[in-house]
Amino acid sequence: MSKVASASVRPRIAIAGATGRVGSALTELLAADQVEVVALTRQPDKAQASRGIAVAAIDFGAPETVREALRGADRLFISQGSSPQQVANEKALIDAAVAGGVRHIVKVSAMGPATRLYPFAWHMEIEAHLARQMIASTVLRPSAYADVLIRRAAGSVGKGSWAGAAGDGRINFIDVRDIAKVARVALFKETHPECQRAYHLTGPKAWTMQEISEELSRLLGHPVVYINRTLDEQRVALLAEGLTPFVADLMMGLEQTFRESVLGETTSTVKELTGEAPRSLPEWLAENIGLFRN
Ligand SMILES: NC(=O)c1ccc[n+]([C@@H]2O[C@H](COP(=O)([O-])OP(=O)(O)OC[C@H]3O[C@@H](n4cnc5c(N)ncnc54)[C@H](OP(=O)(O)O)[C@@H]3O)[C@@H](O)[C@H]2O)c1
Repeated sequence: MSKVASASVRPRIAIAGATGRVGSALTELLAADQVEVVALTRQPDKAQASRGIAVAAIDFGAPETVREALRGADRLFISQGSSPQQVANEKALIDAAVAGGVRHIVKVSAMGPATRLYPFAWHMEIEAHLARQMIASTVLRPSAYADVLIRRAAGSVGKGSWAGAAGDGRINFIDVRDIAKVARVALFKETHPECQRAYHLTGPKAWTMQEISEELSRLLGHPVVYINRTLDEQRVALLAEGLTPFVADLMMGLEQTFRESVLGETTSTVKELTGEAPRSLPEWLAENIGLFRN
């Protein structure tokens, strides 16, 4: 992997969501670069314990903490978990970054059409806010993360089946480490001060849940079947598992895109930007198969 050209001044990169899936993979990559990294987190103890990087505690209820955390940063990466506060919080990060002199913001959004469905609708709102700022920005629009399969399948495929409402829909899952690799490239790219970009990121191939079941069967050494539910049945099942209506609806938004193959396209962007092909779903499954044995 290429290094950042050695410079007398090390760029300071702030990462909002450094304890999360893409954020932690990106932080690990940046540890090998000639940059300063500051992890913005609501849970400084968690961030501090895991790696030797600067940690800045933020509290979205106290805007001065966000401004202070971004002091001296010239680039900001954002990958915030889904919540009803996501739009307000990401707008607050963007506003504080712009006011504080950050030159380039790289934000994780989501691939897909303009829609009412969450979380996509939130990202549309945040992207629109970012688009109005007079600084460089790069929006990463990934397809579904491979690790959403853990929540959906681990804990049941070991007994031979899993269920959902994806039907025959095709989904091109992506490994979060590939999103992190693209984020690193985007953060280091020389950009015009007001350059605005969006990258659509996918794995190498789309899969149906039936095809994923075949892969799981092969890796687990016993048959695994996918039980197809209606959307209504799926929502009832999620609520019965104890999920809150908010989380159930969030998952249903994704389920609907799965069912309709909305995230089925394949882009070559990961390879073009990083020089390496994205990891395939079978590779990811093989690496994580232990999570699916119970
Ligand atoms: N999952 C997918 O398939 C998928 C696909 C495309 C796009 N995305 C997008 O990727 C982004 C990250 O999603 P994720 O589920 O993977 O999140 P995640 O990485 O698990 O969480 C990212 C971090 O966000 C921070 N955060 C700040 N406020 C939060 C809040 N109110 N609730 C939860 N986390 C909060 C947390 O860090 P601290 O606790 O340290 O503050 C957390 O570690 C989302 O914007 C999502 O829409 C996800």
